[in-house]
Parts: sequence; structure tokens; C-alpha cells
Amino acid sequence: MNIAVAKKNIITWFNGHVSRLDREKLHGHKGAVIWFTGLSASGKSTIAHLVEKELHCRGLNTYVLDGDNIRHGLGSDLNFSSEDRAENIRRIGEVVKLFVDAGIIVLTAFISPYRRDRQRVRSLLEKGQFLEIYVECPSEVCADRDKKGIYEKAKAGIIKEFTGISAPYERPTRPDLKIQSHRERPTEASKRVIALIKQEGII
Ligand code: ADX
Repeated sequence: MNIAVAKKNIITWFNGHVSRLDREKLHGHKGAVIWFTGLSASGKSTIAHLVEKELHCRGLNTYVLDGDNIRHGLGSDLNFSSEDRAENIRRIGEVVKLFVDAGIIVLTAFISPYRRDRQRVRSLLEKGQFLEIYVECPSEVCADRDKKGIYEKAKAGIIKEFTGISAPYERPTRPDLKIQSHRERPTEASKRVIALIKQEGII
């Protein structure tokens, strides 16, 4: 018998005694994921951390999942092929689903270049629990900001399959919010994100 079949028979879902709604009531806000997507060095992380700081100061329960950090552990076996990126985002999707069930506002900063992968995460959650924030920024501006010298290496062909240079970025067609980080300061952008979170009734 293969493992998947065995699991079907022996692994059952157990519902605890405390529900998401109970946790949300305790926290005084809903659980949700604020999903930032955009090129490397577009400003996703900077804005996500500013939003977290502001929400935290207001006494809300938050957590940031950041691309580079996650690839040190949860995704340390993955590379940057489209298959590996899909697996990276799939794992993160399962993690954010747990965070939302825990009644936490989780902010994510992953390039997440493929629409299908982002859509798959959205489909794991209920309506209103997933807000997609597109951090738009021309790749030349991202390259100028890049402190790691990674764009240089990508242009020289040393780093392969680099998003925006030698691998695609599929921009969101209908994001919940679009930020143009080359035109807007991070503090202004974070205020707009917080306004959206309020408007959606998460806080
Ligand atoms: S994703 O495509 O799977 O969502 P993720 O956000 O986890 O990417 O990782 C992005 C980080 O890896 C960025 O800090 C970026 O600079 C670095 N990186 C290394 N190689 C690549 C590559 N080939 N394409 C894009 N980012 C890369």
C-alpha cells in the first residue's frame, strides 16, 4: 500500500476545543494573511515590517514570514526553478493557513512570481483572509537598490533563472492593493496597507 493510501485510512483530522473564532475573540481581531508580492528588492520586506511594527504597537498579534529567512530552514532544500518556487509557496501556504487558524495577522514577503502559486494559497483560505499586495517597481530601480549585488550576478549570468532578468514575474491582475515603491515612501505605503486591513474588517 502506498503512503498516501495508508494516510487516508489512518490519519484523521482532529478538531480541538478552541476554535479560530474563539482565538480571534480573545485577540480582538481576525486572523489573515497580507501577501506581498514583487521583484527582489522591490520593498516587500521593508513595508511588511513597517506594517507589523504599527500593528504590534497597537497590541495586535502579528508575524512576518520573509523570503530569505524561510529559505534558511523550511525551504533550504529548494532552488529557484519554477517547480521549486511552486513547492516553496505551497509549503508557505500551508504555514500561513495555520497562522490564520491561530488568529494571527501574518505578513509575507516572497517574490511569488507565478499567479497559479499565489492563487493556490488564496484558495486554501476563506474570503477576506487573504489580501494580495502588489509591490510594483521597475527592475532597474530594484537593481540600483540591491545591496547583495545579486542583480549584477544575474545580469552576468552567474545566477540563473533570476526573476525579472532571466525568469518571469507574473504581475497580479487584480491585487487588493498596488504599491509603486519607486514613487511612494515605505511609510506612506504601510499606512495604505493598514487602511486596507481596517477596511476589510480584519482589525
Ligand atoms: S520565490 O520566488 O520562491 O518566492 P523567495 O521570495 O523565496 O522567492 O526568495 C527570494 C530571495 O532569494 C531574494 O532575496 C533573492 O535576492 C534571492 N534569490 C536568489 N536567487 C534567486 C533567483 N534566481 N531568483 C529570484 N531571487 C533569487
